Amino acid sequence: MDMIAPPQEVATERFFQDVAAGLSAASKSLPCKYFYDQRGSQLFDQICELDAYYVTRTEMQIMQSFAAEMAAELSQTETLVELGSGSSVKTRLLLDQMDRLAVYAPVDISGEHLYQTAIALKRAYPHLDIAPQSADFTQPISLPEHLPQDGVAAYFPGSTIGNFEPDEAVKLMQAIATTCGPGGELLIGVDLAKPEEVLLNAYDDPQQITAAFNLNLLRRINQELEGNFDLSQFRHMAIFNAEASRMELYLESLVEQTVSVGEHEFQFSAGERILTEYSHKYSIAQFTDLAAAAGFTIEASWTDDREYFAVMLLRVLGR
Ligand code: AVJ
Repeated sequence: MDMIAPPQEVATERFFQDVAAGLSAASKSLPCKYFYDQRGSQLFDQICELDAYYVTRTEMQIMQSFAAEMAAELSQTETLVELGSGSSVKTRLLLDQMDRLAVYAPVDISGEHLYQTAIALKRAYPHLDIAPQSADFTQPISLPEHLPQDGVAAYFPGSTIGNFEPDEAVKLMQAIATTCGPGGELLIGVDLAKPEEVLLNAYDDPQQITAAFNLNLLRRINQELEGNFDLSQFRHMAIFNAEASRMELYLESLVEQTVSVGEHEFQFSAGERILTEYSHKYSIAQFTDLAAAAGFTIEASWTDDREYFAVMLLRVLGR
């Protein structure tokens, strides 16, 4: 396939530094962006199919019902940048309806996964310039130079914004506002607050796919950073933090143990946890405030009957 450059995986050095820093801290943590190696991306796709994981299904339903309305709101868009595009399943519903669109630029940290997706998209949408970028979108992303400067919209589905603490979420959305420019738009998926038992079931599913997804991070460290984590000596844990309105995922050490990663050694006491992910759950009002702090106004928002999830269209203030 011409026009689509092969993937470049995240630098091992950066990965190692983040792991070493996270495991050396008084309360241990690992950045959730490292879940998505090839195996992790596959496991995440399996999570999206689970009955217990309402997130993807609900967002898909909203897109199926309202993609035409969304595309009408985005009718001037020539370039669509997608952050954390994964398999771009939801995006297809938009691409099918956006008449003026010329360029689709998916950005994803999982290079190989992105590459496969880009090839499939080029086949399905031959008229579009597909410009994939294998990048960590929490770092400044530079779009390819030949892109038109006007009519840039961003699509940030999946409620990935929920992984960030509110102050970081504001910073990231400010960066997106800069990418889109004044008057530019952001279509964003936001997971909403809901009964705790629904959340617990979604993040600790009966089939244990989420457990495998979480533990895969340790397997990845073993594989890429010469670690010796024994995966049977850790367990997946999901709790709801009501005060912060977020799910928290941990890997809990079952025993006292020492683990090495390359030359470094890390001690774990029995019951000690590694924080691996936050997933914040907002109300529409809370998210509206967050968006305002980042320089956006709400143009429209769409939700499902149960109000489990919202897709919101935001506009950058200033034109
Ligand atoms: C892809 C970040 C939206 O927070 O629900 C799914 C990731 N983690 N199950 C989420 C995830 C555990 C997911 N996001």
